Amino acid sequence: MYDIGKDITVLAIESSCDETAAAVVKNGTEVLSDVIASQIDIHKRFGGVVPEIASRNHTLALPNVVEQALKDAAVTFGNIDAIAVTYGAGLLGALLTGVSYAKGLSCALKLPLMAVSHVRGHIAANYIAHKDLKFPYICILASGGHSAVLEVKDYDIIDVLGSTRDDAAGEAFDKVARSLGLPYPGGPEIQRLAAEGKPVISFAKPFKNENHYDFSFSGLKTAVVNYIANAKTPISKADVAASFQAAAVSQLSDNALRAAKSRGIKSIALSGGVGANLKLREELSAACAQNGIKAYFLPLRLCTDNAAMIGAEAYFMIKKGKPFAGLDLDAKANLDGYIG
Ligand code: KG4
Ligand code: ZN
Repeated sequence: MYDIGKDITVLAIESSCDETAAAVVKNGTEVLSDVIASQIDIHKRFGGVVPEIASRNHTLALPNVVEQALKDAAVTFGNIDAIAVTYGAGLLGALLTGVSYAKGLSCALKLPLMAVSHVRGHIAANYIAHKDLKFPYICILASGGHSAVLEVKDYDIIDVLGSTRDDAAGEAFDKVARSLGLPYPGGPEIQRLAAEGKPVISFAKPFKNENHYDFSFSGLKTAVVNYIANAKTPISKADVAASFQAAAVSQLSDNALRAAKSRGIKSIALSGGVGANLKLREELSAACAQNGIKAYFLPLRLCTDNAAMIGAEAYFMIKKGKPFAGLDLDAKANLDGYIG
C-alpha cells in the first residue's frame, strides 16, 4: 500500500476540454499553485472547441504546465504524495492526453494515481473557497458540459436531484452568442451585451408546473435562434441577449431554490463556468436573501476549468478511502450517474 503522510500534497492535472491545467494542492484546500494554459484563442477562430486540435495542444502544453505548477509551488516531484487526473467527463481525446501523462508520472515516480470526476471537481472547488460551507448544501453546477442541481450531503455523498434533459447551460450561452455574431466562449459575451439591453422578449419556460428539478436549454436556444432568423425588422441584439440570459438564469436559480426550500437546506453553492454569470449571482443572491438561505459564489478562476479543484477532490477521495487507479485507468466521455 502507498504510504500517504499526514499532510497530503497532490499534483493535479486537468485536460477535459480546452484548458490544459496543473495545480499543486496541499490538504485539499491550500492551493500552492494553479496553472492554466487556455486554448481559447486557438479555438476562437472556429467558433467553438475542435476536439482534435484540443488534444494535440494538450500534448504540447502538459509538460510545461506541470513544470510551471511545481515551480510556482516551490516544490519538486519529491514533495508530491499523489497524482490526480480528470478521467471524465469531457472530450475523449483531450481526457486521454491528461490520463496518459498522469499514468506516466505515477509509474515513473512510483506515486499513487487518483482518477477524479470533472463534475465532482467542480463541486470540490467550493472547499477551496468556502471554509464555512457546511453539509448538507445544494450545489448548482452549470458549465459548458453539465447542468445539475445536487444535494451534497458529504464530500463523497451527492444526490443528483435534477439535470439537463438536453443541452448544458453553457452550451446554450455559447450557441446563442454564436447566432448573435459574438465570439467563443459566449457566456461572458452574452453577459456583457445583456447589460446594454432589457429582457423584454419572453421566451417560454420549460416544465411549467412540473414538480422536478430537471433543466432544458435546447428549446430556449432554438427559440432564440429562430427569433433572430425570423425577425422581419432589425432586432436589438442587446435585448435578445438580456432576454435569453434572464430565461436561462431563472431556470437555474428557481430549481436550486425550490430544492433547498423543499429540504430545509440553508446553503446554496454555485459551481461551473456559468456560475461566473453576474445576473445569475444577482438573482440567486436576492432569492436566497428572501428565504434565509446563504448563497456561496466562487472566485471566477475557480468557476471555470482548473486543476486546483481536481487536487481538492482527490484529497477528499483519499481521506474517504477511495481506491487509487491502476494503469488500466481509461478516460470516459460520460460519467456513470451523471457525476461519476
Ligand atoms: O466549467 P467550464 O469552464 O467548462 C466546462 O466544464 O464546460 O464552463 C465553460 C462554460 C462556457 O460555456 C462559457 O460560455 C460559460 O461557461 N461561461 C459563462 C460565463 N463565463 C463562462 N456563461 C455565462 N456567463 C458567464 N459570465
Ligand atoms: Zn468544467
